[in-house]
Amino acid sequence: MGRLHVISHPLIEAKLTRMRDKNTSSQDFRLLLKEISLLMGYEITRDFETVQVEVETPICASQFPVLKQEFFTIVPILRAGLGMVDGLLELMPFSHVGHIGLVRDEETHVPTEYYYKMPEGFETSEVIVVDPMLATGGSAVDAINSLKKRGCTNIRLVNLVAVPEGIAAVQAAHPDVDIYVAAVDEGLNENAYIVPGLGDAGDRIFGTK
Ligand code: PRP
Ligand code: URA
Repeated sequence: MGRLHVISHPLIEAKLTRMRDKNTSSQDFRLLLKEISLLMGYEITRDFETVQVEVETPICASQFPVLKQEFFTIVPILRAGLGMVDGLLELMPFSHVGHIGLVRDEETHVPTEYYYKMPEGFETSEVIVVDPMLATGGSAVDAINSLKKRGCTNIRLVNLVAVPEGIAAVQAAHPDVDIYVAAVDEGLNENAYIVPGLGDAGDRIFGTK
């Protein structure tokens, strides 16, 4: 089964608390999400492989580590996942970015895919799927299905806030995928919103509604 990594750090916790506050503006919400994504990136990439290369320092030549993979592919689930891209790109500017557009039906909560575009060579790269919210898990499961159908084998999922239901759904459908989250909340309300959560992440990022 895919491992659940809860990235707990006082800076992340304090920033997430500000994001949860309904009085936080879209501008601040976006900035906080970017900052948290960058901080989470440090842990998400902890196990990335390195290889030794020879480098000549001003003193002598010796062997030093560099990242084994030339690039990683960051895949935001539109729309809200876009809010996590800039922070990760700041940390890993050599990354490529693919997009999957999914929207949940307001009644059934079942997601529908409306957009899919990946950069060349993504199948063999390490793929980092990002979306602030893991609620029922339907969107994450579908996004990972889409990627696997096209040959991806190395996928990790990054969410800001998750609930046990969503985590269980992803672990059941994709036992090979590790999940990285900043917080695990109590559960879902009758509209499949995370409780206490932070509301509708897409609306808060883009100021819609
Ligand atoms: C939200 C969120 C996730 C999804 C999570 O997107 O950004 O993609 O819901 O819910 P789930 O785990 O139950 O699938 P939404 O469909 O509201 O679209 P948006 O990002 O365009 O607002
Ligand atoms: N999508 C959101 O944006 N927020 C939730 O709480 C659940 C799904």
